[in-house]
Amino acid sequence: MKVKKAIFPVGGLGTRFLPATKALPKEMLPIVDKPLIQYAVEEAVAAGIEEFIFVTGRNKTAIEDHFDHSTELETTLVARGKLEALNLVQGMIHSPGSVSYVRQQEAAGLGHAIWCARHQIANEPVAILLADDLILGAPALREMVDAYQGGNMVAVMNVPADETGSYGIITPQGEAGQLVKIADIVEKPAPEVAPSTLAVVGRYIIEPGVFEKLAEGNKGAGGEIQLTDSLAARIPDVPFMGLRFSGERFDCGSKLGFLKANIAFARSRPELGTELDKWLTDTVLNRG
Ligand code: UTP
Repeated sequence: MKVKKAIFPVGGLGTRFLPATKALPKEMLPIVDKPLIQYAVEEAVAAGIEEFIFVTGRNKTAIEDHFDHSTELETTLVARGKLEALNLVQGMIHSPGSVSYVRQQEAAGLGHAIWCARHQIANEPVAILLADDLILGAPALREMVDAYQGGNMVAVMNVPADETGSYGIITPQGEAGQLVKIADIVEKPAPEVAPSTLAVVGRYIIEPGVFEKLAEGNKGAGGEIQLTDSLAARIPDVPFMGLRFSGERFDCGSKLGFLKANIAFARSRPELGTELDKWLTDTVLNRG
């Protein structure tokens, strides 16, 4: 049961990052020196993904340019002998035809974005990665692909009880190692009615039946077409598993999560970590 394709929904408006996201896609915001979307694509590559499908919207052309050749830049880098930089920009180009773009004409929800990619998917499982859920450490999708045995699978983690209203929340029904069997899932429940604190973060592997449910176009929480609802509708027919991934997740769709990610990723870089730690300890923490 090989997972060879991944969908990257990048059609959201990114309103929490205005004005930065007025002309720049949220997914192009950098963590240290790399855009969020590139981390997601690299995670997919590490999981063995060979075809990359971006569901884009207005103002997202920077993403297409980012994953294509820039002849002018490459020529200039050659002329200036900047070979390290040249390798960096050429190394991220994927083989011709392996990257495709589908336009989501209106931001009608994550489920709608996924449904827009339906013609790119045959009768096969497909991965979904949300770039604003950034994972430091072991690539979560690799762990999922390794454990995947059909049906639907989501990455899960515990969240504080007062935050259930920001996530899809599962009803767990037994665990084995990293795997959690899912009895039910609900989108953005208030803490009083949440079935658990186990939340879905932006990594999924879905089977073709989910597209059939998405095609019904039913609106859910927030008046949007929710992926969660179609996953829930498939529970009677196919296995549904959660995977407690081992990396550390940062919610880069929020300003605080984005700032934390920048610090954590910079600290993990040998050329930045020591100096940054020194500044944080000597200057920032000492300010009280
Ligand atoms: P968010 O809920 O974070 O929405 O979407 P958003 O519009 O990107 O950001 P805010 O809340 O306005 O700041 C979660 C993921 O689903 C994608 C987004 O691009 C993001 O990866 N998405 C959401 C779509 O592709 N299309 C949609 O219609 C909605």
